[in-house]
Amino acid sequence: MERLYQEKIKLSLMEKLTGLKKIKTAVFISGTGSNLKNIIKFSKIKKSPISIDLIISNTNKAEGLIYADQFNIKKKIFSFKNFRSSEKYLLTLLKKDKIKFICLAGFMKILSKNFIKKFDGKMINIHPSLLPKYKGLNTHNRAIKNKDKFSGCTVHYVSARTDSGKIILQKKIRIEAKDNSTSLSKRVLKQEHKLYPAAIMRIFN
Ligand code: GRF
Repeated sequence: MERLYQEKIKLSLMEKLTGLKKIKTAVFISGTGSNLKNIIKFSKIKKSPISIDLIISNTNKAEGLIYADQFNIKKKIFSFKNFRSSEKYLLTLLKKDKIKFICLAGFMKILSKNFIKKFDGKMINIHPSLLPKYKGLNTHNRAIKNKDKFSGCTVHYVSARTDSGKIILQKKIRIEAKDNSTSLSKRVLKQEHKLYPAAIMRIFN
């Protein structure tokens, strides 16, 4: 947080000097990209503190890559098959493109400790559960199976332990008796689309 605050001061100085306004951000995806689309739309509004300048995917099958073309944003695909060299190249690219902030949005690869350290306090993720409950996969199935009354979503900082970083914001919704994992995930996703921009605003304002 402290570093982000310093970054903010540095940025507002830069703003004055260069007219540059928004924090250059990359979004990492692996799938549908509905959060990506939503973050891009949010980034275009005047009050958004971030601009989306790069989209990273670990697969060329990610449907969300379509938004790179639609919104004219640079995209890069890394298979992460050779993890170390992929990450090394990725770090070079982020540096070259002056990316200061990362939003993970349905990104299915676990990044190395070294990478996470480099973006400490500058990388956030959205998770479809009320963390610390249900880290990992199949969150909705697990919540229904356990007869939980509530589910929801969480935006948190990315730390070395998966889905365990400091929580920024959460939204809770009721699990209905008729819910299955598909209906629940649809309703949670709707909330994710509100929560992610709200969390970004919370960080930078
Ligand atoms: C979301 O439910 C998110 O919470 C999880 O993966 C899903 C990605 O959905 N991490 P989308 O690709 O943004 O539509």
